[in-house]
Amino acid sequence: MKRHESLAEATSDALADDQVLLVRIALDRYRGDPDVLSAAESARFRRMRSVGKRREFLAGRSAMRRVLAPLIDADPRDVPIEHGGHGKPEIGDHEGLHFNLSHSGDQGLLAVGRRGPIGVDIELARPGRPFRRLARRFFAVPEFDWLDGLPAADLADGFYRLWTLKEAYLKAIGTGLTVSSRAFRFDPEIDPPLLVRTPKGHEAPECWAMHVLPADPGYHAALCMPAGRFDYRQVSLPGV
Ligand SMILES: CC(C)(COP(=O)(O)OP(=O)(O)OC[C@H]1O[C@@H](n2cnc3c(N)ncnc32)[C@H](O)[C@@H]1OP(=O)(O)O)[C@@H](O)C(=O)NCCC(=O)NCCS
Repeated sequence: MKRHESLAEATSDALADDQVLLVRIALDRYRGDPDVLSAAESARFRRMRSVGKRREFLAGRSAMRRVLAPLIDADPRDVPIEHGGHGKPEIGDHEGLHFNLSHSGDQGLLAVGRRGPIGVDIELARPGRPFRRLARRFFAVPEFDWLDGLPAADLADGFYRLWTLKEAYLKAIGTGLTVSSRAFRFDPEIDPPLLVRTPKGHEAPECWAMHVLPADPGYHAALCMPAGRFDYRQVSLPGV
């Protein structure tokens, strides 16, 4: 993984086609700025009751706008963020830029690239969840069988590894849960797990590259983007 850069460095030159910009957001320290939100975002922000949801929304959307603005030569407030049919934020007419955001616990993750649709997921692991029950409901049968065969000590790690990959794929295709999480699957025996089946009507598994991302202790993160070689650039907010 490439060294950390400042936001100004990382966005001063055009993001190349074979680069992905990964922005790690410390939600406990990066507050965001209500002044950069669009009118619709401000309204949504004002309607939010949960302190945690407000914090992650403001930080996430501020980061999204501050990172994308220099890449399309616009003010953060004027970045034309629209929402796909199932709510995926996208840049209007795309400007060749694709991005996706995820937040969990005290961390947010924003990925930006040019090659095509991106999906990212970060999860704060919560020990003691009913992993087998959740896997039976959300995972394809061979994925459940694999998880069910793991020693108890590896169960949580195996679950979150697969869960974040499945979420990252769903977020790349942008359908949310209108596509069943059991309609596509990974071969978890392979490291990193390999996408081996995609839902009917969607691009073949080999069209996608899946990546398990390094994450702080207690967190799991994954990225999905169109297949091919690429380099990471990394930024932290607030700066390091
Ligand atoms: C809504 C969903 C896209 C992700 O939700 P999530 O995991 O709870 O939340 P994350 O923090 O990872 O992602 C939320 C962000 O994704 C983006 N997003 C919203 N809708 C999206 C969509 N359809 N596709 C991709 N990204 C989307 C937004 O930026 C959103 O944050 P914001 O509104 O604050 O800007 C969807 O996949 C979902 O509902 N998942 C539920 C979990 C589940 O059952 N997963 C099964 C996996 S096996």
